[in-house]
Amino acid sequence: MRKNGALLVSIVAAAIFFTSNAIAGKVEVLHWWTSGGEAAAVQELQKMLEKEGHDWQDFAVAGGGGSAAMTTLKSRAVSGNPPTAAQVKGPQIQEWAELGVLTSLDSVAKAEGWDNSVPGVVARVMKYEGSWVAVPVNVHRVNWMWMNKAVFADNNLSYPKTWDDFFAAMETLKKTGITPIAWGGQDWQEATVWEIVVAGVGGNDFYQKALVQADIDALKSDTMVECFEVMKKMKQYTDASAPGRDWNLATGMVIKGESAVQFMGDWAKGEFTAAGKTPGVDYDAVPAPGTDDAFLFNVDSFIMFDVKDKEAKKAQSAMARLILSPEFQTVFNLNKGSIPVRSGVAAKPFDAVAVASMKDFADTAKSGGLMPSMAHEMAVSPAVRGAMFDVVTNFYNSNMSAAEAAKKLVAAVEEAGM
Ligand code: BGC
Repeated sequence: MRKNGALLVSIVAAAIFFTSNAIAGKVEVLHWWTSGGEAAAVQELQKMLEKEGHDWQDFAVAGGGGSAAMTTLKSRAVSGNPPTAAQVKGPQIQEWAELGVLTSLDSVAKAEGWDNSVPGVVARVMKYEGSWVAVPVNVHRVNWMWMNKAVFADNNLSYPKTWDDFFAAMETLKKTGITPIAWGGQDWQEATVWEIVVAGVGGNDFYQKALVQADIDALKSDTMVECFEVMKKMKQYTDASAPGRDWNLATGMVIKGESAVQFMGDWAKGEFTAAGKTPGVDYDAVPAPGTDDAFLFNVDSFIMFDVKDKEAKKAQSAMARLILSPEFQTVFNLNKGSIPVRSGVAAKPFDAVAVASMKDFADTAKSGGLMPSMAHEMAVSPAVRGAMFDVVTNFYNSNMSAAEAAKKLVAAVEEAGM
C-alpha cells in the first residue's frame, strides 16, 4: 500500500508541476452531484460564481458516493490536467495536500474568519499542517430512515423505534405486495446501511471502536455478528432488481409509495425536495432504530489545485469565499438535504428534518454521539474502508454466514492496516 502511495505521489506531483493549463477566470469543477437534488444544489454555486463574472465549467462524474469521480480525478491529475476545483473529502484531502499540489486557502479563510465560524472537528479535516487546503460545504447526517407517510398510515403502522418493531412492520408490508425496503445494491450503499446498523445495534461506543478505531476485538465480537445478521435480515424485504440500483432511484421508490423505507443519508431529502414533497405531509425521516443519540456525520468539501493563472486564482478564492457565505450555505443546503456547516446561518427557512438535524448535531457534539461516517470517508483510512466495503458487500450478496463475515472483516482490516 505504502509503496503504491509513494509512487502515485511522485507521478502526480511531477505531472501537475510541469503542466498547469488553467484558463483565465474559469473554474472547472469536478464533482459527483448528478441526481435531481444534488444538481439543483450545485447549480446554486455556479449561479453565484457566474454573477461575480467567473466562468463555470461543469465536470460532473456520475456515481453515488463518489468513487468514479475520484478515479477520474486521479487520472486527470496524473496526466497533468487537474480541474481547478474538485469535490474531495476526509482523509483524501490530506493525501492530496501531501503531494504539494493544492492552493492554500489561508488568505480567504482569514479574511472570512473561518476559524471562528467552522467547528473545530470539521476544520481539522480541512487543514494540512495548519493551513486551510479545503473548504467545507455542509454537514450530512447518515443515520436516517426515510419513510413514505401514506404507506405507513394506510397499513396502520407507526414508525418503528426498535429493530424488532422494524422487522414486524416490514413483515406486514410484505404481505401487501409492495417492496418494503428500497435497496440500492452498490457497495457504498450497502456499507451505508451496515454502518447505520452497527450504530443502531451496537450503540455509540461500539460504533467508535469498530468503525472509527477499527478495533479488532470489536470487529470480531458477537455484537458485530449480530449487526451482520440484522443487515442480512433486510434482504428478504427488498426486490430482485436491487443489485446495481442507484441510491436516488431507491429514494424514488419511497417517494412513489412503491416502498415504505430507505436507509440513507440526508442527501435523500434533496430528492424528496426536488420532487416537491414536504416532510410531515408526504414523508417523514427519523433516526434509524437505536440511533436517536447518534449523529453519523459526513461533510462534503472542495479542494483547489495550484494554478498559475492570476484570474483562475481569483476565481478559486471567490468560490471558496462563496461556499462558506451564509447565503450559499442556506440555498445550497435547502436543496441538498444537509445542514449548514458554519455558525451564524438562520434556521428559519429550513424544514423540520433539517431543524432536528441541527439540534441533534449540537447535542451529540456534547454527548459524544457525534461520530464520523465510515462509509462516507470520515473515519478510517481509505485502505481500511475499502476492506470493510469488500467484506460487507460480499457478505450481503452471498450465502456467507454472519460469523464468517466477522472473521473475514478482521482479516481484511488487519491486512489493510499493515
Ligand atoms: C456525499 C453526498 C452525495 C452522496 C451520494 C455522499 O458521499 O457526501 O454529497 O450526495 O454521496 O452521491
